[in-house]
Amino acid sequence: MSILFTHIKELVQVREHTNEPLRGAAMDELPSIKNAYLFVEHGRIVDYGSMEDFHPHPAEEVYNCEDQIIVPGYVDSHTHLVFAATREKEFEDRIHGLTYEEIAARGGGILNSAAKLATMSEDDLFNQAQKRLKLLISLGTTSIEVKSGYGLSVESELKILRVVKRLKEENYIPIKATFLGAHAIPANYKNDRDGYLKLIIDEMLPVIGKEHLADYIDVFCEKNYFTVDEMLRVIEAGSAYGLKAKVHVNQFNAIGAIDAAVKAGAVSVDHLEVMTTEDYDALSGAKTVATALPSCSFFLGLDYAPVNEMIDKNIAVALATDYNPGSTPSGNMNFVFSLACIKMKMTPQRAFNAMTVNAAHAMGLQDEVGSITKGKRANLLFFKDIDSIAAVPYHFGHSIIDRVLVNGIDIKK
Ligand code: NIG
Ligand code: FE
Repeated sequence: MSILFTHIKELVQVREHTNEPLRGAAMDELPSIKNAYLFVEHGRIVDYGSMEDFHPHPAEEVYNCEDQIIVPGYVDSHTHLVFAATREKEFEDRIHGLTYEEIAARGGGILNSAAKLATMSEDDLFNQAQKRLKLLISLGTTSIEVKSGYGLSVESELKILRVVKRLKEENYIPIKATFLGAHAIPANYKNDRDGYLKLIIDEMLPVIGKEHLADYIDVFCEKNYFTVDEMLRVIEAGSAYGLKAKVHVNQFNAIGAIDAAVKAGAVSVDHLEVMTTEDYDALSGAKTVATALPSCSFFLGLDYAPVNEMIDKNIAVALATDYNPGSTPSGNMNFVFSLACIKMKMTPQRAFNAMTVNAAHAMGLQDEVGSITKGKRANLLFFKDIDSIAAVPYHFGHSIIDRVLVNGIDIKK
C-alpha cells in the first residue's frame, strides 16, 4: 500500500535522524516544513520534503492536505494500562483530606489493585486493557509502554505480562512490556521483605526471561516501598535476563535513587516531582532520560517535576501519562501536553519534543517512531484548520485530532 500526502499545510517534527535524545537549546527547535509532501509505503515513511522539490511518486492513494498539520503520533513511555478495577473510593477519600500515602498505609493503593486483579481472569483483563488501548490510540498514542505491578504474586505478575504479550500480538502499534514486580511489598510478605525480593528474583524473573515476557524492569524506589539497595538488587537481577531498567523515583521523597539508577545504566528515571541538587547533577548529561508525569501531579495535587530547570541543566526530558487506577486515571497524551504547557510552563515545542523524540528514547524506540524520518513507521496524527501545534495543548481537555494513522492505516474512532 502506498499513500501520498501533498500540499500539507505543515509537516512537523521532521528530522534526518534521532540518534540522541534532545537536550538544552535543541529542545526549543521543532523542525517543520510548510507546504510539504509525505510519501508512505508499506507502513513506513519513504520520502518527504517541500512541495517545491516534489518528486512525483506513483501512489495508490493521494490526499491533498492543504488545511492539515501532520505530526508523528505520541509516544507514551510510562503506563500501567493493565489493571482490574478503578479506585474512585480512594479518590473520594482524598477529597475528604486523606493523602495518597495515608490511603496506602491503610491497605488501599497498590495492594487494593492487586487484590482485585488476583480474582480476574486473564481474558477479562485482556479485554479491558484492549478497550483502553483502543481509546488511547484514537487520542493519538501510537506507541506505548505497559507495566505489570498489580500482581505481586508469581501467578498474577505473569498473568499481567501475558496480557501485555497479547496486546503486542493483537495491535499494530509498538508496545514495550516492563516487569514491575517490585511495585509494593504484598501483605503476605509484610514481615519478610527479603522473601518477596527472592520471589521476584528466583521465581518471577526466570519465567519472564524464558518466555520473553518483558523488555524492561522497574522498581518503585520510595519510602515505604523499596529502598535504593533493594532497587539495585532487582535491577541487577533483571540485567541477567537482558532487561534494562526504567524506574519510579522521587515521587514523594528524594532518597538517592536517581544517582544509583543512572550509575546502574537505567534507560529512564520517572516521576521526579521532588528533586535535589544531587539529583540534577546525577542526570546532567547522562544517557538516562528523565520522564515527567504531569497528569499524576494534577490528580494527586503534587508538585510538578521541574522540567525547564532540568532542560537548562542538560538533562534529556520526556513526558508520559502514568495511566493507572490510583494516581493517574487518564491515558490522554493531549492532556499531558496541556499540563506540560500550562502547569510546567514548557513551550509547546519543548513539550512536543519531550512526548515524541525523547519519549521514544525512553523506551528504546528512537529508530522506529517519534519523528517524521525516512524509514520510521508512518504513525501519524492529522489536525485540521489549526495554525500551529500550539492549538493542541491550548484546547485542554479535548482531543482535536482529526485522523490517526498507524503504519499508514487509518484507525477508526
Ligand atoms: O506511578 N508510584 C507508583 N506507582 C503508580 C501508582 C500506583 C497506584 O497508586 O496504583 C504511579 O503513580
Ligand atoms: Fe507509574
